[in-house]
Amino acid sequence: MPRPIIEPFRIKMVEPIRMTEPAERRRILEVADYNLFRVRAEDVIIDLLTDSGTGAMSAEQWAAMMRGDESYAGARSWFRLEEVVRNLTGVPYVFPTHQGRAAERILCSIVPMSGRVVLSNGLFDTTRANIEAAGAEGIDLPRADALSGGTFGGNFDLVALDAALEAHGGKVAFVVATVTNNTVGGQAVSMANMREVHDRCKRRGVMLILDACRFAENTYRIREDEPAEKGRTLLAIARELFDLCDAFTMSAKKDAIVNMGGLLCVRDAGMAERIRVEMVRTEGFPTYGGLAGRDLEAMAQGLIEVLDESYLRYRFAAARYLERALTEAGIPVVHPSAAHAVYVDAGAALPHLSAADFPGQVLACAFYLAGGVRGCEIGSLMFGEHAERQLLRLALPRRVYTQSHIDYVAAVGADIARVRDTLPAMRIVEAPQALRHFTAKLAPVSAMPEFPQG
Ligand code: F0G
Repeated sequence: MPRPIIEPFRIKMVEPIRMTEPAERRRILEVADYNLFRVRAEDVIIDLLTDSGTGAMSAEQWAAMMRGDESYAGARSWFRLEEVVRNLTGVPYVFPTHQGRAAERILCSIVPMSGRVVLSNGLFDTTRANIEAAGAEGIDLPRADALSGGTFGGNFDLVALDAALEAHGGKVAFVVATVTNNTVGGQAVSMANMREVHDRCKRRGVMLILDACRFAENTYRIREDEPAEKGRTLLAIARELFDLCDAFTMSAKKDAIVNMGGLLCVRDAGMAERIRVEMVRTEGFPTYGGLAGRDLEAMAQGLIEVLDESYLRYRFAAARYLERALTEAGIPVVHPSAAHAVYVDAGAALPHLSAADFPGQVLACAFYLAGGVRGCEIGSLMFGEHAERQLLRLALPRRVYTQSHIDYVAAVGADIARVRDTLPAMRIVEAPQALRHFTAKLAPVSAMPEFPQG
């Protein structure tokens, strides 16, 4: 019998899950107006809303937190973080921030942005919002076939990048490479593509910024799936990703496996000086940047642990296991699956519904009603008519759920698959102008069906 890839950790501390019944969940969802952001976390059995800040810290991280130095300036914990980040990335000027979007905001406030453009393989929504708030335009240039099964669906479309660099000339503020590319199903970016993007930026004197929040997961995919990179260590590949960029922003809530934190790191001394001034005004003194000393310790330790071979092997195995189980249960998913999430193809799962019927949200509500599983719609509720696909993201918190939890999610999927033809369209009852998916009130056009267990 082939040996399963096991969780490479033992559980030392547990957090009980409150079990709920279908009738109770039906009431909860109605009170929450069919918006899972409005449901209390306590009323969720398996919470796959996001992989951001939801990971479980290791014993070493908790121990490091006890060693946190809470001095206002020049704390020991700060020097430890600075050393770990410099060793990993080679980027000399390191600034902690309270989370990724703070790093993005500061970057956009120290670079001339007004009337310029930012080119990217896929901007995350907060990155785009920060770029737009600074008066620039964000332009995504993903591969046209990003979600149709290619190996590195997160890559830049290089022909489109060339054309955009040519068309916008001196108006390009910078280029952002998001690894992995969250907006196109969490697909990875290849090293070959990164080198090409780097060369183009260098030739034109345009800054290349890495959005590094899932750098370790991207690194693993490069090592596994890019033949030329096979023999290299994970550390060497990660280092090259950073070597190719001029600066990086990072939400530490992902691949630094902490519950809160971020980084803004740059090579240019002049930029660092401007960041220091901006940090003091809005985040905190540059050696703590909106975080406690203990948070800096946990982040430093997490950045070391995340490149562990057995951790990343298990992380991908867990996502692929869920991908396979859902596919077998009759729920279509985007292939190949990312590590941080499995993206259910809600458009294909519910062909009787159109984009205006919010199939991703219908499926999200079905997962909650059928089994107390919470995912996140990424489709026309989130993006309006700009949505290219109707997806339901089932994100996997790091080191939190075991294989039996994943088996449970797949079983819930199978129960949904049996009645999917009867799932009704959703309508918006009330919604704000911007970022409506967080607070919108919705309702199904007719009653949601029962989900008998198979
Ligand atoms: N960049 C990417 C690619 C992200 O996925 C996120 C957050 C951020 C930047 C912003 O970081 O949350 O620390 O301010 N993504 C989360 C998610 C929220 O659920 O995908 P932050």
